[in-house]
Amino acid sequence: MHIVIGNDHAGPKLKEVIKEHLQSKGHEVSDLGVKEGEKIDYPIIAKEVALKVRNKEADLGIIICGTGIGVSISANKVKGIRAACVSEPYSAKLAREHNDANILCFGARVVGEELAKMIVDEFIAASFLGDRHQRRVDLIKAIEEE
Ligand code: RB5
Repeated sequence: MHIVIGNDHAGPKLKEVIKEHLQSKGHEVSDLGVKEGEKIDYPIIAKEVALKVRNKEADLGIIICGTGIGVSISANKVKGIRAACVSEPYSAKLAREHNDANILCFGARVVGEELAKMIVDEFIAASFLGDRHQRRVDLIKAIEEE
């Protein structure tokens, strides 16, 4: 899978851990995030990742900030993006299965490295279940048109 990853200044260390984890499993990773010592306002990085996903230049996105909240709010402003801010693996799995989430967000100040790896693994392994969930996702898409 091709994953695009981004982070603000709260997340460079965790981003590197997740990037290495994904690469060790054979995924291609495009890194748009900042490095340790660099600063960026989170909406900027969230938009960059969201546009890559929206334009189908990557299969899924991952964005890390301090809490995961700022980047998820920002990414969800981009049409076609369903960004889920989660802090445990169950919600990561359901975000794909039920919500067809295409971006995963979490907080480097909220989750530790091992938990973050589990969250990412569940998100990537899960698939959208369609059926009644498709109807609900279509209702989300209808809101975008209002
Ligand atoms: C940056 O200090 C922090 O506000 C940001 O990483 C994030 O947590 C915002 O939601």
